[in-house]
Amino acid sequence: MAKDLSQHPLVQHHLTVLRDCRTESAKFRRSCRGITEVILVEAARDLQLETFEVETPLEKTVGARLVSAVMFVPILRAGLGMLEPAMDIIPGSSVGYIGLERDEATAEASCYYSKMPALEEHTQVLVLDPMLATGGSAAQCVDQLKAQGARNISMICIIAAPEGIATFEEAHPDVPVLAGKVDRQLNEQKYILPGLGDFGDRLFNT
Ligand code: PRP
Ligand code: URA
Repeated sequence: MAKDLSQHPLVQHHLTVLRDCRTESAKFRRSCRGITEVILVEAARDLQLETFEVETPLEKTVGARLVSAVMFVPILRAGLGMLEPAMDIIPGSSVGYIGLERDEATAEASCYYSKMPALEEHTQVLVLDPMLATGGSAAQCVDQLKAQGARNISMICIIAAPEGIATFEEAHPDVPVLAGKVDRQLNEQKYILPGLGDFGDRLFNT
């Protein structure tokens, strides 16, 4: 079952800005950053820590640092909007890129680019894609990551459709989905309702 973070006041605030058809690109990008930060703080909850001794100006105490290697995989183009805030929230991460584009008529995604750093089995991979609609792009991305050896993968989105979550979870029951909001449904063109339209176009003003 996908985790829905829409009870968080900042998620509600930024999501409303993103949904509003009058929001222009600069403001859209700021709210994309704001909502991604909240979602990433939640995604970071399960990261592993190790303790070590740290010296304050007054005395020694026990500190903690992240031990899991985290790799972000933004799905181009729209996932790029989530990358910078994600990297700011989780330090020391690496990045792999995958380009997937939906066919406008069939809504089926095809891959046009992929560049992944070496993956170790324990690497925590966080896939970034703001819209999980039919779930096809997310499932293809995770197929590729698993083929390259990834075992700990999470799917991070801003809005997800119930139909897409069901398809994705059937293909990858071991991959948790974290969403800012699970919306109502897809329309006939496979856009999310109420949604926010085409995320990539609104982010990049195209
Ligand atoms: C959008 C979105 C997702 C995909 C979701 O990308 O950013 O990647 O659609 O749809 P799905 O769940 O039905 O596969 P799009 O193909 O429009 O490309 P873009 O990011 O380059 O705009
Ligand atoms: N991609 C988008 O950008 N928006 C949708 O509603 C569905 C797919």
